[in-house]
Amino acid sequence: MAPDDDARDHWPRHARAWARIGPPLRPVADDVARVAAEAAAWTAAHGRAPRVLLLGVTPELATLPWPAGTELVAIDRSAAMIGALFPTTGVPAGARAARGEWLALPRADRSVDLAVGDGCLSNLGFAADYRRFAAELARVLADDGRLLLRLFAAPPAPESLAEIGAALAAGAIGSMHALKWRLAMAVQPAHRNVAVVDIRRAFDELVVDRAALAARTGWPDDVIATIDNYRGSSLVYSFPTADEVDAALAPALVRVHRHAPAYELGDRCPTVVWSRAV
Ligand SMILES: C[S@@+](CC[C@H](N)C(=O)[O-])C[C@H]1O[C@@H](n2cnc3c(N)ncnc32)[C@H](O)[C@@H]1O
Repeated sequence: MAPDDDARDHWPRHARAWARIGPPLRPVADDVARVAAEAAAWTAAHGRAPRVLLLGVTPELATLPWPAGTELVAIDRSAAMIGALFPTTGVPAGARAARGEWLALPRADRSVDLAVGDGCLSNLGFAADYRRFAAELARVLADDGRLLLRLFAAPPAPESLAEIGAALAAGAIGSMHALKWRLAMAVQPAHRNVAVVDIRRAFDELVVDRAALAARTGWPDDVIATIDNYRGSSLVYSFPTADEVDAALAPALVRVHRHAPAYELGDRCPTVVWSRAV
């Protein structure tokens, strides 16, 4: 069975609800500007536009102001996500999206100058698949290639559910999506892999009255209901710390820099640049 035909994969439901998914789950202008600046710098340094591999079909990345002449191929294993989200306009000329698996990329050795993605690693099992991913990216990246990913990274000091409950009661959590990620990172076991059904369970235990939450926070009912995309999903997310990510990707990939944006939970959503070890 093709992975995206698995009814227990919630990404097709997510695709249909994409307009209701917001930061920090989706990148904002500051995140996109980081990637655009890296692409511009790469182009200036090499005298030509980059060959870009987009991991997933994040529209904000597909449509950023890529240098003229950029070649862009997006790889995602979900036909539903490609069909729903890969933009038909605003992408570099000739850009295309294809089904494929990040751990076995349908790309030639050394054929990618910039590989970019948003929240990709949280879709992989920590840490074995992170290591396979690093080896695969090191294979496809050109010698001076770069990997740029926004992470969803757990804080170095774990948060308790009681702390999250207190923050919610105090009105100190700014969005449903921030709450979702704080819960996910708090309930994940020490091995850093958390079944998404357990994120929903934690939410339901914390929030017994969704209508009251909506009234208190102003969060729309349909945005709160995005937590239900996880119902019955077989997917497992991972949220290691940013340092744990670096360690898992090494020695194949070497961190060049890490930038944390200013928005809520930005410290947990850094954009990180790695080079392949040569
Ligand atoms: C780019 S990630 C994160 C998107 C967004 N920032 C979020 O968290 O809601 C989501 C995409 O990754 C794809 N995906 C997950 N694991 C994959 C894998 N191993 N190979 C290829 N695509 C994968 C899913 O199909 C989905 O379209």
